[in-house]
Amino acid sequence: MNMEETKYLTFALTKGRLAGQTLSLLEEIGITCEEMKDKASRKLVFVNEALKLKFFLAKGPDVPTYVEYGAADIGVVGKDELLEEGRRLYEVLDLGFGKCRMCVCGPAEAKALLTHHEMIRVASKYPVIAKDYFYNKKHQTVDIIKLNGSVELGPIVGLSDVIVDIVETGSTLRENGLEVLEEICPLSARMIVNQVSMQMETERIREIILKLRNQLEA
Ligand code: PRP
Repeated sequence: MNMEETKYLTFALTKGRLAGQTLSLLEEIGITCEEMKDKASRKLVFVNEALKLKFFLAKGPDVPTYVEYGAADIGVVGKDELLEEGRRLYEVLDLGFGKCRMCVCGPAEAKALLTHHEMIRVASKYPVIAKDYFYNKKHQTVDIIKLNGSVELGPIVGLSDVIVDIVETGSTLRENGLEVLEEICPLSARMIVNQVSMQMETERIREIILKLRNQLEA
């Protein structure tokens, strides 16, 4: 293929914890972006001219949005954001890092509140996941309160009875006198692809998926 005619493939990566691991994995299959390593840079979009690739970092919940609308062809994001956002896109690969669990957490005493279909208050950064779990899986009507972070505060200051949140090491819970009461689902980083890009750039995207899969299995 004539590289001059090749269009850029754009990656939307999740800022923060997942970014470093994503870049290392991409580097292992020869996809590098030197520009991105310059910590002092205020640039938002990074380019690898030789490979005709572009990269940008976005907040987790926004990654599926960029991919659904085709502003990015490929994304790397936590399964939690995919479940919460419910966007139309292809989830093509479990990248195996960023492993954690979505759980119902609270003080030990709150466990009883989960067994008798009581009307309780649930605080979460993930209202869609919380609602689906309580309404559709447990058939328990609850009051869901959306928070934007430090959700563990909910039961501590008396805003909610329990929380639905991500648990990785469990240390945030332990240090705040809370525990996992029920597990909702396991989570990890996923590669996602725009549905039109998958049809238009099948070969290039399939090659990336294949290389990543082989690298993950190695
Ligand atoms: C996440 C999550 C928990 C914590 C879990 O929060 O919401 O608070 O990490 O990790 P642990 O089990 O290893 O302690 P994050 O640090 O992303 O910040 P936030 O609470 O402001 O969302």
